[in-house]
Amino acid sequence: MREGYASRTAEQNALFRTLESSRPEGRRLFEDRLARTFLTWPLTLVARLALVPGLRRFVPWYIDHRWPGVRSSVVARTRLIDDTITASLGAPTDQLVILGAGFDSRAYRLPGMRRTTVFEVDHPNTQATKRRVLEHALLAEPTHVRFVATDFNQRGLDSAMAAAGYSESVRTFFLWEGVTNYLTEAAVDATLRWCSRASPGSLLLFTYVHSNVLARPSEFIGTERLFASLEKVGERLTWGIEPKKLPAFLAERGLSLESDVGASEYRERYFKDAARKMRGHEFYRIAIARVGKHAAQRSAER
Ligand SMILES: C[S@@+](CC[C@H](N)C(=O)[O-])C[C@H]1O[C@@H](n2cnc3c(N)ncnc32)[C@H](O)[C@@H]1O
Repeated sequence: MREGYASRTAEQNALFRTLESSRPEGRRLFEDRLARTFLTWPLTLVARLALVPGLRRFVPWYIDHRWPGVRSSVVARTRLIDDTITASLGAPTDQLVILGAGFDSRAYRLPGMRRTTVFEVDHPNTQATKRRVLEHALLAEPTHVRFVATDFNQRGLDSAMAAAGYSESVRTFFLWEGVTNYLTEAAVDATLRWCSRASPGSLLLFTYVHSNVLARPSEFIGTERLFASLEKVGERLTWGIEPKKLPAFLAERGLSLESDVGASEYRERYFKDAARKMRGHEFYRIAIARVGKHAAQRSAER
């Protein structure tokens, strides 16, 4: 990330969610009304253009043409994550920990969230911007949300999370969306090990990139421009793993893999037939793992 600036990729995700939210009811995959409030120039302008009749379709078409698969992948995964969190958070005592929250608005828009303690953990630069925007955008201060500012690459989560009131004995849902690919392997390792100390049965949903895209980007559609754009905003891809190595990697860290899907699959789940024409970003994957030593050991023995 650029020194002193909020994450630009977090803002781009907010743009994709804004565009999806401005589609007609019944056709959009979700409605994220807060997403728009996080946009700065020129992305505000892009969002406004998409409201102009005639340009409504052109804006997403242009984005998909320049950066194939990125927008559709973010939109489909947003809905998948909304569905997964909504289905798994039940008891009022549950905790939701959003690691690298960026401009994620789930704490403010998903049903039942106000009964859940939500921890938004993020880099200080991005979090400061988010908190400033929320101060104006929300009618009242959200008492169910606790903010933790940290750099995953610099320090572990132990003391900061304990100070914020996080409890290891409460069933927790950890969401780590769009972040692991920007970290060091040591930070990924430490964070996974920290998550695995949570109450057994807790769930972790995280995204990651197939390591081949780091080693041989030219084998994937659209990576040349995508990587150049990421370089420009100081958010290069740094970490990935081969999907076949993921179960053992997680088992070593006390987690058992429950599912692992690539962008083609999760796009098809939500965009149905239209997904067949979507290309690019196939290396971007969503994994769900469960905390629990026994489950992890079984998966390692397989
Ligand atoms: C692509 S954005 C994803 C934001 C959000 N989770 C989403 O899916 O829209 C990447 C997020 O990771 C955070 N991030 C990147 N590197 C980080 C680091 N070393 N420590 C803490 N947060 C980091 C950024 O601040 C940003 O919020």
